[in-house]
Amino acid sequence: MSTETLAQIVATVGKEIADAHRGEGKVADYIPALARVDANRFGLAVITCDGQMAEYGDAWLPFSIQSISKVFTLTMALQRMGESLWVRVGREPSGSRFNSIVQLEAEGGVPRNPFINAGAIVVTDAVLAGRTPGEAVDDIRDTLRRLAGADTIDVDKEVATSEAATGYRNYSLANFMKGFDNLHSPVEDVLQTYFHQCSLRITCRQLARAGLFLANEGVDPLTGEVVISPEHARRINAIMMTCGHYDASGEFAFQVGLPGKSGVGGGILTIVPDVAAVAVWSPGLNAVGNSQVGTLALERLAARMRWSVF
Ligand code: DON
Repeated sequence: MSTETLAQIVATVGKEIADAHRGEGKVADYIPALARVDANRFGLAVITCDGQMAEYGDAWLPFSIQSISKVFTLTMALQRMGESLWVRVGREPSGSRFNSIVQLEAEGGVPRNPFINAGAIVVTDAVLAGRTPGEAVDDIRDTLRRLAGADTIDVDKEVATSEAATGYRNYSLANFMKGFDNLHSPVEDVLQTYFHQCSLRITCRQLARAGLFLANEGVDPLTGEVVISPEHARRINAIMMTCGHYDASGEFAFQVGLPGKSGVGGGILTIVPDVAAVAVWSPGLNAVGNSQVGTLALERLAARMRWSVF
């Protein structure tokens, strides 16, 4: 057995990957305010259930959480609605791009899973129910702040405005689902909430900390807070594994072998059940829209640590 510590392995893997691949991939530019980020950034953070922390590179620089927010809104929607959420959204991989509309008509306005945009918009509608978009966004932000133990997490207003100004596909998806009665609040309210949740800025260090409850059956191992039931935590991990990387979810399971959720900001949150949460950030994306260098780093780290669940 290796005598290297976790901190040494994270530092070694981070340096190897950064030296060989830094800057690879293409920064998302379909939201203009996202396109300005420095492609050379690379951060990696690991927090274990027994409280060890290890980091490399830009682990303390905030980036746009984007679709990784969908893990936390799914958690909140399950807290609010329980199992009845699954009437409105499925849990099958879509095999389609994240903003695809093609399956929605054939499947009666019920999205395949909570991590494609259509499904995430339904989940946001569940989080919004009974309150204003401002209240729901504050609740999402405050939930992340509490889980991360970080008051600095906040919405980047410029990104939120940019998302709304260019969100034609999201408007199509939301209107289409409203036509099937699968959105309860007004389309504009749901989408404003969705755009703001995607525009939250967070660091790798904070993201790994915020996701740690998913590595520990729904209980934050460092504070003892019961965030969600063990059954729901297991299901969220299952959906991260099968749907967390859109139509490259199979590839991520093959390469890394862990539940993970990516965002077009270049971040990925990965859960090592019973062991740790890992967050990586490198803004350049691969052809499917997942962080290219981030995926390589997770592949190398999971192999080195023998973390694959398979
Ligand atoms: O809906 C959108 O276009 C974005 N705000 C979120 C997209 C995202 O991160 C998809 N990810 N890989």
